[in-house]
Amino acid sequence: MNAPVHSAFANTAEEAIAAQDALDGPMTSEMATEVAMQNTLLTPRFYTTDFEEMDAIDVTPVRAEWDVLIDQMKSDPNKGHFKKTDEWEADWDGMEPALKAEFIDFLISSCTAEFSGCVLYKEMKRRGSNEDITTLFQLMARDEARHAGFINDALREAGIRVNLGFLTQQKKYTYFRPKFIYYATYLSEKIGYARYITIYRHLEKHPELMFHPIFKWFREWCNDEFSHGEAFALLLKTDPKLTTTPMNKFWIKFFLTAVYSTMWVRDHQRPLFHEALGVDVTWYGQEVFRKTSEITKQVFPMTLNIDHPRWRPNLDRMEAASRQVAAAKARGGVLGFASRIAGMTKAAVAFVSVFTIPAIKNEVPDSPRLEPAY
Ligand SMILES: [Fe+2]
Ligand SMILES: [Fe+2]
Repeated sequence: MNAPVHSAFANTAEEAIAAQDALDGPMTSEMATEVAMQNTLLTPRFYTTDFEEMDAIDVTPVRAEWDVLIDQMKSDPNKGHFKKTDEWEADWDGMEPALKAEFIDFLISSCTAEFSGCVLYKEMKRRGSNEDITTLFQLMARDEARHAGFINDALREAGIRVNLGFLTQQKKYTYFRPKFIYYATYLSEKIGYARYITIYRHLEKHPELMFHPIFKWFREWCNDEFSHGEAFALLLKTDPKLTTTPMNKFWIKFFLTAVYSTMWVRDHQRPLFHEALGVDVTWYGQEVFRKTSEITKQVFPMTLNIDHPRWRPNLDRMEAASRQVAAAKARGGVLGFASRIAGMTKAAVAFVSVFTIPAIKNEVPDSPRLEPAY
């Protein structure tokens, strides 16, 4: 396979990955070790599932909307977008070292999250035989590979290599049942949209705070994520049981709570990054939750009550607990172990407190399709 000029123009995920890996030349064993070391930093997980069950999905109930969405994705409005242009002026040397460290951490975890989606979608495409499903997953894998490739371009300038091909082989995979993949992936696509668009709109108003050019690319970027979320909304619509039985409602609430609180904890651990953007991280979290809740009304039978008096104090408790656990781990020994258990207990209690806040019921519309509105 000839590697294309750049991952931004690749028509498949495989081409994009090959193009990216070619930029670093062949992997030496030294590089491989370096990448493996970074693995500990690459916290977002990789997933695998029951691909046969997913391949059996029949999209007939949502056919009309499905075809429109697939045609839109096939028309590929963002082909060539994820590539540096003259507008790209990164000043890594002028960046405060502490900010630089947080920003690199942000880029690495974003790159892994993008790539984690790519790997899952690519695998679904490879294993499936249902043309509707494989077409969708091939298109989404293409987009995610371009996104990961673009972040990789940014990281390469800071002297960091994330070898995507190598990562595919080395990273540990977590098994999720297909329905959990739908809930988790639907949510992460929509929350990804809300995160990128909130930062983009904020910087539109305050261009002087744009400390790195990658943010200029966020609008088209989040439109890709929006489409991916739309696809999962349609998949969820193919089987009404997925969003109506008491057990599945329980799981939806669980995933909403887990995804929101994880985001809160992670973002609060990057204070300098948010400060440089002029974003109050607590405001940002609530704003992203608000947008995501509004969007997920298209398919979920409830939204979380993020204005409940128990909501924010317990998210803050989870964040404090996660810092305690990290410090206790670093400290080690009996005292470290005890402090770690105490921290994990605190986090669990706070999670239960948030999870048991009564949700707000939502009447799901017949047609889920939305257009990006923020
Ligand atoms: Fe993406
Ligand atoms: Fe996506």
